[in-house]
Amino acid sequence: MRILVTGGAGFIGSTVVDAYLAAGHEVAVVDSLWHHGGGKGANVPSTVRHYELDITDPALAQVFAEVQPQVVSHHAAQHSVKLSTDDPALDARVNVLGLLNVLENSRRHAVRKVIYASSAAIYGAPATQPINEATPQQPTSPYGITKMVGEHYLRYYRAAFGLEYTALRYANVYGPRQNPGGEAGVIAIFIHNLLTGQPITIHGDGEQARDYIFVADVADANVRALTAGDGASFCLGTGTRTSVNELYALLRRITGRDGQVSHAPTRAGDVPLAYFDNRHAKEALAWAPTVTLEEGLRRTVAAQS
Ligand SMILES: NC(=O)c1ccc[n+]([C@@H]2O[C@H](COP(=O)([O-])OP(=O)(O)OC[C@H]3O[C@@H](n4cnc5c(N)ncnc54)[C@H](O)[C@@H]3O)[C@@H](O)[C@H]2O)c1
Repeated sequence: MRILVTGGAGFIGSTVVDAYLAAGHEVAVVDSLWHHGGGKGANVPSTVRHYELDITDPALAQVFAEVQPQVVSHHAAQHSVKLSTDDPALDARVNVLGLLNVLENSRRHAVRKVIYASSAAIYGAPATQPINEATPQQPTSPYGITKMVGEHYLRYYRAAFGLEYTALRYANVYGPRQNPGGEAGVIAIFIHNLLTGQPITIHGDGEQARDYIFVADVADANVRALTAGDGASFCLGTGTRTSVNELYALLRRITGRDGQVSHAPTRAGDVPLAYFDNRHAKEALAWAPTVTLEEGLRRTVAAQS
């Protein structure tokens, strides 16, 4: 298949590119290497055409005309919760207007399907756990709102124009190439600070727990979604929860380093617990996470060393 990956120079997008290439597909990338994002030109293999362009740019039409993609894997986004609260208009420009530019070009250039990187952020702080596809969505940040709205546009474009989609709601993704300079990505930050002897900050009591999924498992779901899961959204996680304290203990053991830990107040909007029921993804995508947390952390530490 010919596949266009937006955000394909970023942490997850570039791993998805690698997985598509390994499965024998033809891939092109659109990525502006946005200064707030984690993208790097070096993440894109030299054999892959990289269009350094903003997804809101009208020139995106030329990229679609040239590449003639059959599938678009949409990973380009503004994904900082903090930036989205500081500047909701910027967040909406990239995550809503950028998506609309991708969807308009997709329907005009006969794309069959869009695979969309959605997020656990669409749920906010739900009353019941684990979270599944039917859990009510009450996003607590502009970022969560724009990711949720994106799924509604996908549903609309499918009903109105027959453009297929699969939305993959990622839990907390970690692995090689994650930017340790961001505000999120606790694993990348902890590893970086442990390896460089910088202090570790734990917000609250560290008992807040999340569902950490290795990036290669997320990329595998993107491969499976090429031919499965049409017209549906999936909670993509491991189905297990790990606290920040547990993560820190594991990373101390794996790196063999001891960090200087300081505690900071709980961050606004930080939910105590969020983890996914992944049964729908397992059934409909014939997918399952294969990398244990311990193994994924070892691979991430090795890549950051
Ligand atoms: N990392 C996670 O845990 C996580 C969880 C849920 C959802 N997601 C979603 O997965 C996707 C990828 O996230 P990531 O963690 O790999 O981040 P990342 O910053 O590493 O990758 C995003 C890429 O998009 C590019 N980009 C940003 N704005 C752009 C624009 N306007 N035009 C063109 N390119 C642009 C950036 O340059 C970057 O390379 C995002 O859509 C994000 O919302 C990530």
